Amino acid sequence: MKPSMNALALAVLILASNAFSQKFEGLALTPPMGWNSWNKFGCNVDEKMIRSMADGMVSSGMKDAGYQYIVIDDCWHGGRDSLGFVYPDSQRFPSGMKALAGYIHSKGLKFGIYSCAGDKTCAGRTGSRGHEYQDALAYASWGVDYLKYDWCNSEGLNSIGAYTTMRNALFAAHRPVVFSLCEWGDTKSWEWAKDVGHLWRTTGDISNCFDCENNHGSWSSWGVMRIVEMRKDIRKYAGPGHWNDPDMLEVGNGMPVNEDRSHFSLWCMMAAPLIAGNDLRAMSKETNEILTNREVLGVDQDSLGIQGYLYTMQDSVEVWVKPLVHGDWAVCFLNRSAGTRKLEFDWSKNIIADDLSQRTLNTNETVYKMRDLWQKKSAGDTKKNISAELAAHNVLVLRLIPEQH
Ligand code: GLA
Repeated sequence: MKPSMNALALAVLILASNAFSQKFEGLALTPPMGWNSWNKFGCNVDEKMIRSMADGMVSSGMKDAGYQYIVIDDCWHGGRDSLGFVYPDSQRFPSGMKALAGYIHSKGLKFGIYSCAGDKTCAGRTGSRGHEYQDALAYASWGVDYLKYDWCNSEGLNSIGAYTTMRNALFAAHRPVVFSLCEWGDTKSWEWAKDVGHLWRTTGDISNCFDCENNHGSWSSWGVMRIVEMRKDIRKYAGPGHWNDPDMLEVGNGMPVNEDRSHFSLWCMMAAPLIAGNDLRAMSKETNEILTNREVLGVDQDSLGIQGYLYTMQDSVEVWVKPLVHGDWAVCFLNRSAGTRKLEFDWSKNIIADDLSQRTLNTNETVYKMRDLWQKKSAGDTKKNISAELAAHNVLVLRLIPEQH
């Protein structure tokens, strides 16, 4: 072939592979659940620690509760070999990634890894820019099931192009991978990423506090409520296989238990991915009870995949609602204030119509039995008003079940 034919053949090949490329369908039909190293360990990752996290996910009961992915975030990288293939840091991962993936798989769990669309990751390690197809091949050969793909050092890149390139590379490598976009909402990924990835970060990084901003100079990380309040009108973009991701969990990383409980409840109301970020080897009973509460997890993992929303706020108490399967609803009352609040809520006066799901919660027409999901007990039915004391930064989460159900 003449060189010009070569170029033509290559162009045809690229066009064809783009035309037939797609994200892996049928994955993340409910919000992904797992663990990621970043929130607790930052760059301090190694294979021994990661293996013990897989052990912890099993022994803590989290695996049985539905958590699946063990994801190594930034800083696992060593460099690139003479052919341009990426390899892990040999001090931290002496047995290599394939062995580590094998261990994680042997526990019945799945293996996730991290890279970045720029040529360097956020922590300055080896990024994927210009090596997307090679990296996807490497991940497939190691047995990677989940890729978080960051957006540092992306100057001059177009986000749709960069993330689509990695999507295509993963698809071409033939190993199904959940693709987690991490461009922080900078280019409104929810508007374009439905066919590119399975989840996309909606904000900057979360911080281990309820309502603070942590200023790091050129950027800030954000407390739980700051994150919640940052993106108000994007629930319509979420659904099975494509989720808004308000960042990983800080449950068990130092907030008081009521704040952890509220954080977790809100993530479940928002149908958010539940990627734990605490030390799974050493968690308190309270943390464990939050992360493994199956009834609250059921709100997050509901098969309809409708993201809940803030319906109203009265006297610093927010009322969140989320339509669930079989005509059920989840309702979450959150005390935003620093003091105790007396909660009075008359169901009959609150007819809640959700335009997005076309569902209406009208207790004048349907009586609902109520279940308190944190107390794990019945809470009567909607013929009676809610009258309760809510401690500061605490929640009451109910599941409403139609009586004829
Ligand atoms: C960015 C991401 C974080 C984490 C770090 C790693 O800040 O948003 O979640 O992955 O990079 O350096």
